[in-house]
Amino acid sequence: MSDPIDSSATLGIVGAGTMGTGIAQIAAANGHQVHLYDAYPEQLATSEAGLRQILAKQVEKGRMTQQQMDTLLGHINWTDHTLSFSKCSLVIEAIVENLDIKKDQFARLEAIVPKDCILATNTSSLSIASISSALKRPDRFLGIHFFNPAPLMKLVEIIPGIATSTETVQKARTQIDAWGKVTVLAKDTPGFIVNRVARPFYGEALRIYEEGIADAPTIDWAMKTIGGFRMGPFELMDLIGHDVNYAVTETVFRNFYYDPRFRPSFTQKRLVEAGWLGRKSGRGFYDYPTENPPEPLTDEGLGREIFERILAMLINEAFDAVFMNIASRKEVDLAMLFGVNYPKGLIDWAEEWGFAQVLARLEHLNALYGEDRYRVNPLLRRVVHNGDSV
Ligand SMILES: NC(=O)c1ccc[n+]([C@@H]2O[C@H](COP(=O)([O-])OP(=O)(O)OC[C@H]3O[C@@H](n4cnc5c(N)ncnc54)[C@H](O)[C@@H]3O)[C@@H](O)[C@H]2O)c1
Repeated sequence: MSDPIDSSATLGIVGAGTMGTGIAQIAAANGHQVHLYDAYPEQLATSEAGLRQILAKQVEKGRMTQQQMDTLLGHINWTDHTLSFSKCSLVIEAIVENLDIKKDQFARLEAIVPKDCILATNTSSLSIASISSALKRPDRFLGIHFFNPAPLMKLVEIIPGIATSTETVQKARTQIDAWGKVTVLAKDTPGFIVNRVARPFYGEALRIYEEGIADAPTIDWAMKTIGGFRMGPFELMDLIGHDVNYAVTETVFRNFYYDPRFRPSFTQKRLVEAGWLGRKSGRGFYDYPTENPPEPLTDEGLGREIFERILAMLINEAFDAVFMNIASRKEVDLAMLFGVNYPKGLIDWAEEWGFAQVLARLEHLNALYGEDRYRVNPLLRRVVHNGDSV
């Protein structure tokens, strides 16, 4: 086992946007010297001003002292060049989600960083293998996927590519663990764990809505009140932004060779086309600011039917991730607990509900619709019928 990168190590972050700034904050708070590079000077100014504002609020609330704030900021060097990356032991890239631009960036970085520097991408949807093809030494390259907002969300997915060495994975994981994050190891497949397993939370809710079974407020009410989720699917899509959420769904769908389980919805596509992107545009499924939010139909029976249908579909997806060795049961459950704040891990939840109950719910949907979208995962069947463990 190799030594972790120590807290005196210097880090490089490429891209001073939402994610890059958040990751720089975490590293600086853990005592690292951080070089935060962006190709656009105005973005560097925005990043620094934004972080100052966030930290000043923390000081105001008594969550950190002025001195801690100054020390943290003193650890970050906002820079418009990457020359200082020649001293870094870990570089995390968080620039625009474009394969050619990322490949070009890594090819240039490789020529600057030391031989033993780990190179990582925060990509959400590109394959680690495709980005690694730009590198002469892909063995020191991997995916380190933070969630937004990075300083608050505990989960980090660690994704080795086809050529990543075991040493690189161990070193990177040890480092991120040392920052108090919950790390899970995921295979280099579309959506990794969270963005794959979470798809039915949106997709099945949209399907229920499109079929006219219930409206958005009722589905949101069911998932929150009966399911215990912090936000309903429609509120959450409005918050994420329909452009972003639709793009992730479409990418996952395409990358899964058009598996109907991941098919995007026309309803969401129309919202994007109309510019009804959610909170940020003032209108999505709801109007913002929400002064008089529409009332849900608080029918317990209907609510339970909605919640169980969406939960069963989520559990089916969690089983598929284990079945296809994307990650272990434990890691899939941790990923959904800490990456999207689900109230319970999905497979633990299935066990509590009863695996046979989940299977029955899915078989009912499958029989009702006869669509491949509702096919039951073989591992769930084996657990119920053969007593296999999961
Ligand atoms: N926002 C999220 O919720 C989220 C979550 C997890 C992962 N990600 C991933 O993180 C990455 C960054 O996302 P973001 O939301 O922070 O984006 P963002 O648009 O907020 O920031 C991207 C930054 O990269 C800079 N940039 C663009 N091209 C560059 C280049 N060639 N060289 C240097 N800097 C360049 C931009 O100026 C900008 O500051 C993407 O790969 C995204 O998929 C995003």
